[in-house]
This record gives sequence, structure tokens and C-alpha cells, in this order.
Amino acid sequence: MSKKPWGGRFSAGTAASVEEFTASHQFDRELYKHDIAGSRAHAKMLARQGLISDDERDAILAGLAAIEAAIEDGSFEFKDELEDIHMHIERALAEKIGPAGAKLHTARSRNDQVALDLRLYLREESGRIIELITELQKAFVKLARRYLGTIMPGYTHLQRAQPLLLSHHLLAYYEMFGRDRQRMEDCLKRINVMPLGAAALAGTGLPIDREFVARELGFPAVTANSMDTVGDRDFAVEFTAVAALAQIHLSRLAEELVLWSTEEFSFVTLADSHCTGSSIMPQKKNPDIPELIRGKSGRVVGNLMSLLTLLKGLPLTYNRDLQEDKEPVFDTVRTLASCLAIGAEMLDNLEFNTDRLAGAAGSGGFMTATDLADYLVTKDMPFREAHAVVGKVVAYCIEQNKDLPGLSLEELRQFAGVIDRDVFALLSVEGSVESRRSIGGTSSIRVEEALARAEKELGMA
Ligand code: ARG
Repeated sequence: MSKKPWGGRFSAGTAASVEEFTASHQFDRELYKHDIAGSRAHAKMLARQGLISDDERDAILAGLAAIEAAIEDGSFEFKDELEDIHMHIERALAEKIGPAGAKLHTARSRNDQVALDLRLYLREESGRIIELITELQKAFVKLARRYLGTIMPGYTHLQRAQPLLLSHHLLAYYEMFGRDRQRMEDCLKRINVMPLGAAALAGTGLPIDREFVARELGFPAVTANSMDTVGDRDFAVEFTAVAALAQIHLSRLAEELVLWSTEEFSFVTLADSHCTGSSIMPQKKNPDIPELIRGKSGRVVGNLMSLLTLLKGLPLTYNRDLQEDKEPVFDTVRTLASCLAIGAEMLDNLEFNTDRLAGAAGSGGFMTATDLADYLVTKDMPFREAHAVVGKVVAYCIEQNKDLPGLSLEELRQFAGVIDRDVFALLSVEGSVESRRSIGGTSSIRVEEALARAEKELGMA
């Protein structure tokens, strides 16, 4: 029978099966640094408030430093009977420094302690993810600059729709990930609130100073309601939701790269260094990185569902269920961070096949049909009528095996007498692209502005 920190009221020992079932140290040791940082601040506060002596505080700080070093060099011993990272560190401290170690848990519960650890962890990791998102955005901006001027077909329904600049397509991702970055920054505000002092659930009768602990740990504010504090994991849900959306954005990029690197599209060539081969088909070069990124989005969305379901119907305040919050959070951080990093690396190492892209846009095919309709609108034809007229023109082209720029003026005039020679400038892909000067459009003047803005925002200019 092992002695538990909470063993006082028990007369029988815990079954080994229960110790194994309830233990979380296998995964929550990930929080050791944050647990120790929180304990340091707490010990300093206890001494300042006269709840422990300065000597006791110094012994605690020295003991914590030794424990941190032991965990880092792998010599620290973990065992199921001590449940979680918090009890492991507390027990090791008591063994190392004696009675002073047993005073560290004054005015603290594992309930507010674990909330603090998770907030410290997510504060650090969301900062790292914001940096990784920024690096990915830079990779898009570099490509947009490098391929400025390249025309390609733009798609809706995965059918050729209108010609546009490749850089415009790339900068769409810059915007998408920019929103992810903003969401992460916003979520960080709610992560960054200091929970310690809520104690088990109702606060403490001991004269603690929560504001001091917050300052020590760099939190701008302390949580308001002790009950909410120990039962709240909204910040973890929010983090995971933001991460899931970013991961979904990555999966859209991944899908385009998988598609675009097929022989059928051949829009892009992924670097040999960032592809893998087949063990049976010697000719294969597979886009495993984007495929895995696409596949991993499933687990991040799953993690979000896990956390939401974990909280569903959970009564106030702390319940042991909440121990199940950690693995989805850790997995989300690891998965998203690795996908963002390898995604940026992959972008830095790819080549667009500009001839192939321009060839696909070709002389325009039917992709300038909207331009022809818009042209008719400038000749005072209502847009719906213009749409119908151009539909007939396209049907005629298909029948005659021609494309729009290949029609003669006489042929075009059969459909609308108002058509003049000036229409041909618009029916070319270049003319079509350059005409789209509305804010956010694909003309080179708008794309260059957008690129300059992005470069400035990312400090690349
Ligand atoms: N390992 C626990 C968790 O992760 C720490 C808090 C335990 N609190 C308790 N009252 N048993 O949630």
C-alpha cells in the first residue's frame, strides 16, 4: 500500500488496477516546465505573504530546480501510484527538502494548479503557432512575388471559370491564414488569464495575493469566479477550434497540390526532397506530404469534438473527466505545428510549370464568356439578356469546334449587332485578367497592390 498525499481518510490502499486506470503522468508530464514555473511563483507569493519563511521558499526553489534538471536529463522516476505530474513533483520535493516541501501546496489545489499549467502551456504554444502561421504566409507571398505575371485558369466547381493570375490564387491563401492568425491572437487573450487562487473551487481563507502571482507569471489579469475557474476549459476548446479551422485550410491547400501535381494537371512539381516513391512501382513520385496534411485534418477535427463532448453536461465545478482534456490538446498542438512547418517548407521547394498553366488558360477557350457578357452590358444590354446571348455564342462555338477569341466579327454580330472590333481586346485572357480592376480583383495592378501590402505586413518589404 503506497502512501498518497490524499491518503489520510483511507484505511485501505488503492488497487493497482485503479492506479493504472487513473494515472495521467504518461501524458501530462508534458506540462512539467509549466507546473514548476507555477510552483515557483506560488512559493514566492507564500513567502511574501508570510505563509512560509524565506528559507523555506529558497529551499523550495532549489528543490524545484533540481527536479526540473532531473526530468530534463531523464533521471526522474515516474510511477502510476503518484497519478499525475503535479503529485510527482510535489512528492519529489518533499523527499528532497523535507518539511518545507510539504508546505508548497498551501492555499492551492490540483484543480487550480492544472488549470494554470494548461493555460501556461497553451499560451506558449499558441505563440509558437502564430509564428508558424506567419512563416507559412511568407512562403505564399514569396511564391506570389516569384510568379507574378503567370496566368492560369481559375476554377469554380473544378471547371474552368475565368482566367486569373497565379499570384492572385496564392494570395487567397495568404488571406485565409491571416484570419487564422488573427483568431489565434484573439483566443490567446482568453488563455492568458491567471487561475491560481481559486483553490479547490471556492477560493481560500488564507491571505494569498493572486495579483502578485499573475505578475510573476506575466498574466495581465486573474480569473473572476473561483468555481468557473476550476471547471472552465473554454480556452482549450477555443484553441482547438481555431486550430481545426487552420488545419482545414491546410487540407484545402494540400488537396490542390495533390491535384496539381498529377500528370493530368501538371501545374506544379514538388521537389524530389519532399516526395516519396513507391516500393513496387519504380516510376512513382508521390505527394505524401500534402496527403498526410490532408489526412491529419481528421484528427484535429476529432480533437475538437472530443473536447466539446467532454464538457457537455458536465456539472460545476472540477470533475475528473477534465483530465481527458490534455491528450486532444497536445495532439492538436503537435499536429498543427508540424503541418504548418512542413507545409511552408514544401512551398519553398516547389516549382510551378508556368507554360503548362498558361497553356491551360490557352487562348481563353470559353473562359472569357463573362467578359463578352460584360461587354454587351456596356452597350446597354441588360445582363440577363447578355448572359443568354453569350450562352448561344458558346453553343455555336462548340458546334463549330471554335473558341471565343477565334470567332470573326461577322460571326459575333449574328448574335448581337452592337458588337464591334474593340471586343477582341477583352476576349483574350490577358485582356480579361487586366479588365478585373475592382477592389480584390485579379488584374495585375490590384494583385501588385495586394502583394505589396502583404509584404509590408509581414516585414518582407
Ligand atoms: N490529473 C488531474 C487532471 O488532469 C489533476 C487534477 C486532479 N484533481 C483532483 N481533484 N483529483 O485533471
